[in-house]
Amino acid sequence: MDDTNRVIVEAWNTVLYTKFCRFKHLLVDGLSQHSDAAFERCRHPEGARVLDVGCGFGDSTLRIAKSVGPAGEAVGVDCAENFIRAAEAEARKEGVYNAHFLVGDAQWGDLCGPYDHAFARFGTMFFDMPGAAMRNIRNALKPGSTFTQIVWRRREENPWLHEAELRVKEIVPVVSHDETEQVHCGPGPFSMAGPDMVSTMLRGAGFERITFERFDCDICIGRDMEDAIEFAMALGPAGEIIRLAGEEGEQQKPQVVAALKEALAPFARPDGLWAPSSTWFISATNPR
Ligand SMILES: C[S@@+](CC[C@H](N)C(=O)[O-])C[C@H]1O[C@@H](n2cnc3c(N)ncnc32)[C@H](O)[C@@H]1O
Repeated sequence: MDDTNRVIVEAWNTVLYTKFCRFKHLLVDGLSQHSDAAFERCRHPEGARVLDVGCGFGDSTLRIAKSVGPAGEAVGVDCAENFIRAAEAEARKEGVYNAHFLVGDAQWGDLCGPYDHAFARFGTMFFDMPGAAMRNIRNALKPGSTFTQIVWRRREENPWLHEAELRVKEIVPVVSHDETEQVHCGPGPFSMAGPDMVSTMLRGAGFERITFERFDCDICIGRDMEDAIEFAMALGPAGEIIRLAGEEGEQQKPQVVAALKEALAPFARPDGLWAPSSTWFISATNPR
């Protein structure tokens, strides 16, 4: 494992895991709206064996396990052991016995194939070497099987993250990954937003019949303004800018709070703050 990958894995297993736990109420519900729509388009049949790449808390893995039934199996893989332990605990709690989880790196780990389908909800955008991961995932698929991934479209279509990023950049100095000793999330949420680049990468990894479908929906970014501001300052590009700026990021927080209050105000509704979000559902087939 190279050093960059090591810091990414450590970030997801430590600081980002803690933040994901804190904001699970927003993340799981918000992200599920995109996967629910993707699952409607591509139902996993009973008896299928399905891989869930970068599964996080594993809620999507459990949903797949229920869809394929006791004759099938859903396998969630994630590089962060803490996510995998949380996913296993949830599977036990829900009594889902055909969901299994493994700690592994999607880029070169043994993914325990062969699978009838591979799925990834926001799991591929943080890979240090996404091309290697696509090839490794394809190698774990049966011939003729498909890989469906959900990734964020461009930042301008995702104001739930981008508005906060723009405001924070005006206040807090941006520290690049090369300039810091701190762990970081990897390439970032918009790294797979460009269809030309991603389709070329998938073809290079040996996939064919590559399609992109756009999906838009509003997601809840806070139960109230305070929740939304805390969420924006913790995660996404804005959260990473503040964290990587260290002491200076902490010192600028009062100014950031004021700026975010103004930027997020248009998203306020009686039932919380809701902002537009936009994804690609990308499908790619392993040749027969
Ligand atoms: C944004 S989270 C998405 C989690 C989950 N799929 C969801 O939608 O809630 C990205 C996930 O990818 C995982 N990840 C990052 N790099 C990885 C790698 N090289 N191999 C496997 N998982 C990885 C992280 O640990 C994290 O759980």
